[in-house]
Amino acid sequence: MTPRDTIDVRPITEPETRDWIRALNAGFLRSPEVSERELADRSSYLVPERTLGAFDGDLPHSRLRSSGGTPIVATFRSFPQELTAVGGTPVPANAITNVTVTATHRRRGLLTRMMAADLAAAKARGDVVATLIAAEYPIYGRYGFGPATCTTQWTVDVPRAGLDPRWSGPPAGGRIDLVDAEDVRRIGPELHERFRRAQPGAVSRTDRWWQINTGVLRLDRVPWTEPFYAVYRSAAGEVEGLVSYESDDNWGDAKQPLNTAEVNWLIAVTPEAERALWQYLCSIDWITRVKTGWRAPDDLLPHVLPDPRAAHITTQSDWLWVRILDVVRALEARTYAGTGTLVLEVADRDGLSAGRYRLDAGPAGADCAPTTQRAELTLDVSDLAALWLGDESAVRLAALGRVREEREGAASVADALLRTSRRPWCPDTF
Ligand SMILES: CC(C)(COP(=O)(O)OP(=O)(O)OC[C@H]1O[C@@H](n2cnc3c(N)ncnc32)[C@H](O)[C@@H]1OP(=O)(O)O)[C@@H](O)C(=O)NCCC(=O)NCCS
Repeated sequence: MTPRDTIDVRPITEPETRDWIRALNAGFLRSPEVSERELADRSSYLVPERTLGAFDGDLPHSRLRSSGGTPIVATFRSFPQELTAVGGTPVPANAITNVTVTATHRRRGLLTRMMAADLAAAKARGDVVATLIAAEYPIYGRYGFGPATCTTQWTVDVPRAGLDPRWSGPPAGGRIDLVDAEDVRRIGPELHERFRRAQPGAVSRTDRWWQINTGVLRLDRVPWTEPFYAVYRSAAGEVEGLVSYESDDNWGDAKQPLNTAEVNWLIAVTPEAERALWQYLCSIDWITRVKTGWRAPDDLLPHVLPDPRAAHITTQSDWLWVRILDVVRALEARTYAGTGTLVLEVADRDGLSAGRYRLDAGPAGADCAPTTQRAELTLDVSDLAALWLGDESAVRLAALGRVREEREGAASVADALLRTSRRPWCPDTF
């Protein structure tokens, strides 16, 4: 085993990009080979100062090295993002991705070193939170991250759903039209901006996202087939919803259609648009199954169907993990369900956010400041992250022994303030 101090953790330089991608591919168990297309694509958006590598100077012969430099055995990258808080205020987030440690170098603290360097830089920069989508649940809690949104995938058994087979479009003057990729590039980003500013837990999207999802940018590892795009417009002609979906071509022996429509993504800014797009997807002739893709756990879908049991859950999981870097700004960024005061003792073993804070909260916003008053609720910063977007319950965390009431009833007060009537949701992966 290589002694820890021969491994250097630092930002990469531009000529090291190819080796860094090789290490990334190896860490994700993909062929390490880096095509010219992949190199050009990743070079177009990688920011070397925020792209960390672990360099093993004791590794003379390595498939992970193509440039003759020191082999890279771990990767880590962050980029700027905005995350919508409850109430609609976007906060600056340090989005973390491309985290890998080569199998030969696991469990020697390389992730811990890269994480510490990146979170310290994010805190110094003034980011309010860090975000990530965790490959595996047990990895990130130790670094102060908590699961802050969940996701659900349903599969709809269309014949069982009980929808009116004569349905031919949305009621009340709304309409649905098929559009092409060029239309999506024109209307999608603006629609998404409206969507994500109203959706707690949603994150900003880059132009690259739209390029990939409309076939402008083709990646080696994501085969491209042009999907269907359908747009919902209100009676006033406003674009209010957009869906991308694909269908297979599957017929049964008795000459009955058995096609499955798979939703790539669906966003809507009004309930009318959301309901209409689901009804549309479940009313396409030949389609007997609809796979919904990653949805909010309280998506309208099951209850758009006369028989909601026709939509059965195929996946339910934690999704966006949040790490609070600035407790005061995080708590002041959101609105609250009621009016009240709460003193929180926040533990943070990395010291980034530890302290006692008094929160004076109300429906229009909050004041939050360090205090010496007696704490009412003691909790870890990872549990505060799980509570912050409103999805978790302090009473439940107290029952689990994870938050401690220093004053009886404080967990109920926290829930009355922090919880939201609709659940937070992040539709994106990054
Ligand atoms: C997840 C991964 C990056 C961890 O890297 P690592 O360098 O081995 O992690 P560290 O040595 O810094 O581990 C720190 C601690 O986390 C624990 N840990 C790390 N990965 C873990 C996992 N997958 N499950 C459970 N515990 C894990 C370690 O046991 C260690 O615990 P300790 O502090 O009690 O000793 C690495 O295993 C990996 O590349 N996995 C495959 C790719 C992947 O899942 N990437 C994450 C994408 S979101």
